[in-house]
Amino acid sequence: MPLPHARATLFLGLFSLVSVVVLYLSTLDVQNNLSPQGCRMSRMSPSYILQTEFNASWTSLANRYSLWLYREVGWESNMIHGSQPVLFIPGNAGSSRQVRSISSSAVRQFYSSPHRLSPNFEGTPFKPLDFFAVEFNEDLSAFHGPTMESETAYTANAIAYILSMYPPNTTIIILGHSMGGVIATSLLPSDKITAIITMSTPHLLPPARFDQRIDQIYNRNRLVLESDPTPILSICGGATDMMIPSESCILERKDAPFRRTVFSSALEGAWTGVGHQEMVWCHQVRWRVARAALELGDATSVERRGTVLDRWLRDGSWFPPIDAPPQLLERHSYKILSENERLVLDRPRGRETYLLPVVSGSSARLTLYVSQGSVLSISPQIPVPLDVSVLICQATVDEAFECESLEPSVLKLIPNPIPGMPFPVPHEGCDESEGVVLFEVDLSSTHQDRPTWVGIKLDRANGFGWVIAQVAPETVIVRDVKITSLLAGGVSTHLPDTRALHISVHFDNLLSNALTVYRVSPRIFTSGTECKENYLSPLLVHRSHPAETHYFPLRLAPHRDILLHTHSPAPYIDTAMSGRGVYLDLLSSGGDNCRADVITLEIAWTATAGRWASRYFTTIISWAIGIVSLIMLELWRISDEGVVLTSTVAQSLDFFCRRRFPALLLGSSVFSMVPLPTNYFLGTKGEPFFSPLAPLFMAIAFGLVVVSYWFLFALLWPLRLLSKLSLGRSHREINGFSRATAISMSLILLFVFLVIPWQVAFLGCWFVHAVTCASRPRSAGDSLKSPSNSVIISLMESHPHTNGEEPDAPTGPVDQSPLQIANNYNHNMHLLLLMTWLLPLAAPVLVVWIRTLATAGFTTPFDGDHFVLNVAPFLFLVDFASRTTGPLFEKTRLERRVSVRWSLLVVTVVAFVYGPKQAYLVFDATKLAIGLMVVFRIGTRYWDGSFSGANARRTIRQ
Ligand SMILES: *[C@@H]1O[C@H](CO)[C@@H](O)[C@H](O)[C@H]1NC(C)=O
Ligand SMILES: *[C@@H]1O[C@H](CO)[C@@H](O)[C@H](O)[C@H]1NC(C)=O
Repeated sequence: MPLPHARATLFLGLFSLVSVVVLYLSTLDVQNNLSPQGCRMSRMSPSYILQTEFNASWTSLANRYSLWLYREVGWESNMIHGSQPVLFIPGNAGSSRQVRSISSSAVRQFYSSPHRLSPNFEGTPFKPLDFFAVEFNEDLSAFHGPTMESETAYTANAIAYILSMYPPNTTIIILGHSMGGVIATSLLPSDKITAIITMSTPHLLPPARFDQRIDQIYNRNRLVLESDPTPILSICGGATDMMIPSESCILERKDAPFRRTVFSSALEGAWTGVGHQEMVWCHQVRWRVARAALELGDATSVERRGTVLDRWLRDGSWFPPIDAPPQLLERHSYKILSENERLVLDRPRGRETYLLPVVSGSSARLTLYVSQGSVLSISPQIPVPLDVSVLICQATVDEAFECESLEPSVLKLIPNPIPGMPFPVPHEGCDESEGVVLFEVDLSSTHQDRPTWVGIKLDRANGFGWVIAQVAPETVIVRDVKITSLLAGGVSTHLPDTRALHISVHFDNLLSNALTVYRVSPRIFTSGTECKENYLSPLLVHRSHPAETHYFPLRLAPHRDILLHTHSPAPYIDTAMSGRGVYLDLLSSGGDNCRADVITLEIAWTATAGRWASRYFTTIISWAIGIVSLIMLELWRISDEGVVLTSTVAQSLDFFCRRRFPALLLGSSVFSMVPLPTNYFLGTKGEPFFSPLAPLFMAIAFGLVVVSYWFLFALLWPLRLLSKLSLGRSHREINGFSRATAISMSLILLFVFLVIPWQVAFLGCWFVHAVTCASRPRSAGDSLKSPSNSVIISLMESHPHTNGEEPDAPTGPVDQSPLQIANNYNHNMHLLLLMTWLLPLAAPVLVVWIRTLATAGFTTPFDGDHFVLNVAPFLFLVDFASRTTGPLFEKTRLERRVSVRWSLLVVTVVAFVYGPKQAYLVFDATKLAIGLMVVFRIGTRYWDGSFSGANARRTIRQ
């Protein structure tokens, strides 16, 4: 078996290996630098009580899975009384134990010490929580629809069981981690569920797309997500989450039904990327989830539940209601500032109102920062008593002012990173008292006809914190930068020399997509060595999606790179986002100590490449199958044309590389500019900037095909030696069809139908075929040298009926021409290559099956994996290939008009266009193509029992 020797082929193989390594390394770069994680570990004293009464009378899955109740040791009694149930659903390979961080936090928030109610909850209607968790034995639900359905069925029964222990009409709160969130969604519609909080859940796109039944579950859930009235909130970890691309976690924001997405980088008080597993224990997230759950228990209406979720898992897009009555400011109870003057109050004391005049006729914006205190009840978790309210006032007679509360257009808690420390602080993150409240409102539309003042009213100031406010025209810099202009290098933007509290920089035309990452480098003026403001050091805010915001402190070099990225739009995810526009906000307290005057924007290539790898993994596998089937199409073309000697795989690869590959590269880049819907091909809707990705991934896919052939070469070599050794003894050729063959084939199919999943049978086929390739003669010379080499391994050999003498096998010498031997060998090797590439599509379920066997035994139903037709074409083909002495494939008279080889072109099209989003379709298409081949080209000979070409012709003549 020669290796390909064209230099280009060799080069592409090596190129793909290097690319895979580079992509892998850049993925690590993404994890470490794009959205770093700063999470405090949580501590608890867990115990778990097995719910033994939830037994086979409740669910048929009682032996497979289990249900546990969490209790914090020493803090609460084991009784269930007057409490509110919560159910935690773990994800793929997850454990019920993951409930402990959130449940422990709920207990320690509700009680201040064991059995003592916390002052926060005294006199409130809130109840303690009982956290239940389902245990799925770390089943791999993400890869296997039926496993997910079993888990869903078990969870639905568990909910019925849990609620049977509570007063009638009790509803349950559901927390789902990762695929657990998908299971939670598939429990709907249900009137037993209060609300669902999902963490790092891929709602929109299955992470593993090899099983059609997963897709069906997702299709059903899509309808639920659109219309079911149960509130659902999705927390996403952002780029730090390497298990799922976070764009699949985004639920479009809606009020009815209530749907929210909160990125942990935007979550107030967290401001950090959170990894996939870390999401359940990251302290900054878990206490908020626990707190929301505590208050959800009392929320009876859907609106109220929405408000609780909005309040505790807030990213700044929800405002508390304002119900302060209009008020009159008496003479001497206020201080008036001059126009454009900045209010700066350091460690204020007492009660005071400051009036800032609004200049009429020009655009004016109020920017207010309050550190440590609260504005409209928005504050750090542990605030000082300082309370600031914002009023809009007009003068009346007698030097008094009539004031009303002013509604904010922005009201959120922003971080105030500590100078000299990384942000977020690794392993620590933000502290409970950290954060500055930002209040902004556009004043240009209010009360322009009369002189107007903005009142900043301080209450209960006790010498802690600071307040800064200014009414000033908006500072917006608009730059027309396109991503193509960044290819040549960075683009710099000069910031105006103002001491504005808030400067906006808009790149309206810049591409904003999950596949691109930009680096921002600021140039900073400072008097010292540290960029340190007295109040708020300059902070860059990048709001890339209504739900996704990132905060970056502007630092002197060397600092952590500021990498701008987004999760929407993204490949294979439908969204209404336009994909244009990068909007930055520079916030600071406007001091002179630390000011950025130029920011430079460039493409961050390493991080960008890291974004591609995780999104195009399935695409590359699917495209490789498409390429292999193109290569086979070529082989069948020359064999149909009656070329005497077909090419070896090595020759095919070389030929493809020289003759077809350049066209494929060109074609794919042109095709990637066709504005297809996001589900197809590259998934970029024809965005021209991404069109080079298509040839790049085609090259990697083809290179991987070459590498896989090297791998097969290495694998077959020892197999060949083995088969020479063990089968060197004289074997009789099992030749032709017999009753025994029929019986054993039916037995195998029955076995697949009843016991083993077809994926296992497929692996068996692959293995048998590999042995066939290793043991059959490669060329006439081979077979002449050692005739015993033409020994055939067949599926039936181990079968008792065929083990002994073979009474009804056709006998007599079969002439096999040297050409035919070589041609069959070539066909077999090409087939082996194709089947090897199909393995990734079948293997995940195989792994699930083995795992499930290990944990749950043979009792487990693997419904739907016994569809024999999925594997039957391969079974017959492999069996035939292992025994035929005639030509493997010969064009038959049935194909006079159209050759069945064109079915391989269909496989290619499916693999290129549909495969990336629905990889299982590629297997289906290949199965059909092979099925047609078997029916048309082997079928008659198989059932005639004429395995050699000579016999076939004889049969026809009769
Ligand atoms: C399940 O548990 C209940 C209560 O302990 C018991 O009455 C019932 O017989 C059990 N059912 C099975 C099938 O074990
Ligand atoms: C439960 O709800 C139903 C329908 O809303 C109501 O008729 C019934 O009285 C409620 N039962 C209790 C115990 O609250």
